[in-house]
Amino acid sequence: MINIVIGTRPEIIKMSPVIRECTKQGLEYLVVHTGQHYSYAMDRIFFEQLGLPFPEYNLDVGSGTHGAQTAAILSGIENILIKRPAGIVLVQGDTNTVCAGALAAVKLHIPVGHIEAGLRSFDRSMPEEINRIIADHVSDQLYAPTPISRQNLLNEGINTEKITVTGNTVVDAVQQNIKIAQHKVHPLEKLGLEPRKYFLVTAHRVENVDDPVCLAKILTALKKLSEHFELPLVFPMHPRTQKMVREFSLSTEGFRVIDPVGYLEFLLLESNAALLLTDSGGVQEEGCILSVPCVTLRENTERPETIEVGSNMLAGTNAEKILAAADQMIETRRNWNNPFGNGDAAHSIIEICKKHGTL
Ligand code: UD1
Ligand code: UDP
Repeated sequence: MINIVIGTRPEIIKMSPVIRECTKQGLEYLVVHTGQHYSYAMDRIFFEQLGLPFPEYNLDVGSGTHGAQTAAILSGIENILIKRPAGIVLVQGDTNTVCAGALAAVKLHIPVGHIEAGLRSFDRSMPEEINRIIADHVSDQLYAPTPISRQNLLNEGINTEKITVTGNTVVDAVQQNIKIAQHKVHPLEKLGLEPRKYFLVTAHRVENVDDPVCLAKILTALKKLSEHFELPLVFPMHPRTQKMVREFSLSTEGFRVIDPVGYLEFLLLESNAALLLTDSGGVQEEGCILSVPCVTLRENTERPETIEVGSNMLAGTNAEKILAAADQMIETRRNWNNPFGNGDAAHSIIEICKKHGTL
């Protein structure tokens, strides 16, 4: 049996093609949700929109400190793996769910497959970087999305036989859902937006939003940007950021702040935007796939492929840099090639699992 662990919004989205592939092939699988994300708009909406089976287990770990959250996931997954032995445990990405899920499995001598292996920002102050390194080094099968991520793994001494470049399942997810979105939801009409005449913003990285000075700086910079281009800024705000904006009593005047939206709505908001401004990993990738330019509100990225092909620019949180990057990217020709694969990553991953006799 294949045990699929998920816990947060991006994991549900990027694991959805893998779950679909298992269903299509009639494989025996079990989905374990850690409950790291739990609000309707961060969790259940994706199961409904993407037609995914509700997980058989939900650990309901909720929010907490890194130690508390990781420990609760580790112990919860261990209990399930003892009760329901698996041939392989699949984890996706770089969250606390991934780190704890991989550790629980490897300690029980169950092979681990890491989807989106080998991404590196080379910034160990990011919790995600620690989670990636741990997950990669305890995994038996590493599904690297690109040759760059494969090389990162080789540079760390990981055995080449464990690594396969599969593409990123985010491409599968975009391809499987964009047409459905066009028929099912109408976010631009709902928000009174015109195609290519608005900016789409997301921000939730700890280093950006948990510091009052930094978050205030980002909001001020984005407001200036909106005034400069005379274009509205739509900001579906992550609950962490909503909490921090409240806690620091910051103004969001000048923004169209909305609650996080479903994947179908977000895909359409992305694909029609003049420009994306984000610190999200998934949004940098989706901009690149959907041919929409992106300015990343960070000093580094673990998605250097987007910079290489010209779909993305790093701007950090400085207003002048953000404006200069936006000026350049809004004019850029949207003719780059998508470096993240052709939409068959989930199929490749499941074929490797089968080939290795782990199912
Ligand atoms: C987590 C991941 C991050 C990933 C992001 C995707 C870690 C260390 N971080 O960050 O890598 O990019 O998910 O979105 O694993 N909250 C809610 N409802 C929810 C979830 C969270 O209100 O459903 C609020 C709570 O106030 C919580 C805060 O958001 O304290 C942060 O949640 P947490 O899961 O700790 O981290 P994220 O910032 O979501
Ligand atoms: N997303 C969404 N609704 C939103 C904002 C983002 O469905 O309101 C999707 C987006 O399309 C992408 C994923 O969430 O697939 C990115 O998740 P997030 O930014 O939370 O995490 P990261 O990718 O940075 O880990």
